[in-house]
Amino acid sequence: MKLAILGPLKRRHEEIRLIGEAKKVFDSVSYFCIPNLTVEITDGECFVKHKNIDLSSFDCILPRIPRSYRTFGFTVLKILEGKVFFPIKPISLFYSHNKFSTLLLLKENNLPVPETYLALKRSVTENVLDEIVYPVVLKLLYGSMGRGVIFADSKQSAITFIDTLELFKQPIFVEEYVKNPGEDIRAYVIGDRVIASMKRIAKKNERRSNIGVGGKGIKYDIPQKIADLACDAAGALGMEICGVDIIEGPKGPTIIETNINAQFQGLESATKRNVARQIVEYLKERVKK
Ligand SMILES: Nc1ncnc2c1ncn2[C@@H]1O[C@H](COP(=O)(O)OP(=O)(O)O)[C@@H](O)[C@H]1O
Ligand SMILES: [Mg+2]
Repeated sequence: MKLAILGPLKRRHEEIRLIGEAKKVFDSVSYFCIPNLTVEITDGECFVKHKNIDLSSFDCILPRIPRSYRTFGFTVLKILEGKVFFPIKPISLFYSHNKFSTLLLLKENNLPVPETYLALKRSVTENVLDEIVYPVVLKLLYGSMGRGVIFADSKQSAITFIDTLELFKQPIFVEEYVKNPGEDIRAYVIGDRVIASMKRIAKKNERRSNIGVGGKGIKYDIPQKIADLACDAAGALGMEICGVDIIEGPKGPTIIETNINAQFQGLESATKRNVARQIVEYLKERVKK
């Protein structure tokens, strides 16, 4: 059985781990950098190729497509859809690489998300900024690893950031602060279950709990109710494999975001689980079915 992993030029820890584990499970494993692929329409047929290798000749594809390649990645997956198995829907690339669209889709599926506002210029945010409860969270639509998340304790401090967003022509994304003691939950969904989960505890004087900004991951036995939420979130986004961030807030567990290319280095060390192995074993089973 043949697996192809589609990823960025520079392989990160996760891609390297996935290749290593996949080699133990699949008969052959290839890694293709997305910018090295071509998409062809010839004789009325569509192909995705790497040099002369036709990607539809693989049994399974594991997309690890970064945001910057999401449009090309979408085309690639659209062409391969129905020919090769892969664990996300092509459209998931757009939804999950945009934090606001993610929340919108979750809400449409009756899942709990923070109150959220999106606008394109400061002048139309005045009402919201007058009425919202502080602190608020301001985010770049496309941040990751905690970068691009700001907490504003007053309208005045929110405006300073909003002015900056406007200057850089970035959408203004304002989110209700979900009260928490400096921690959140990362649930890693594979298929219809959470295969590993941890609490992430923010470092002192920091509200972001991401491990990339100093948060500490500790193994967490996730209650079934929260695990179900994580699985529902993954399902709503059309992803069979994804990382879901959840905060247990005053109104109950609230989904903050889903991660299409979730990292798992911190999760593996916190839980001592071989996440990479579970991913590739899942893919193999899924193809067999
Ligand atoms: N609405 C919120 N209320 C409280 N804390 C939040 C909220 N949104 C994000 N955070 C904190 O900031 C961290 C990073 O936010 P997140 O939206 O997951 O962005 P990233 O993609 O950078 O991980 C979260 O893990 C959480 O600790
Ligand atoms: Mg996050």
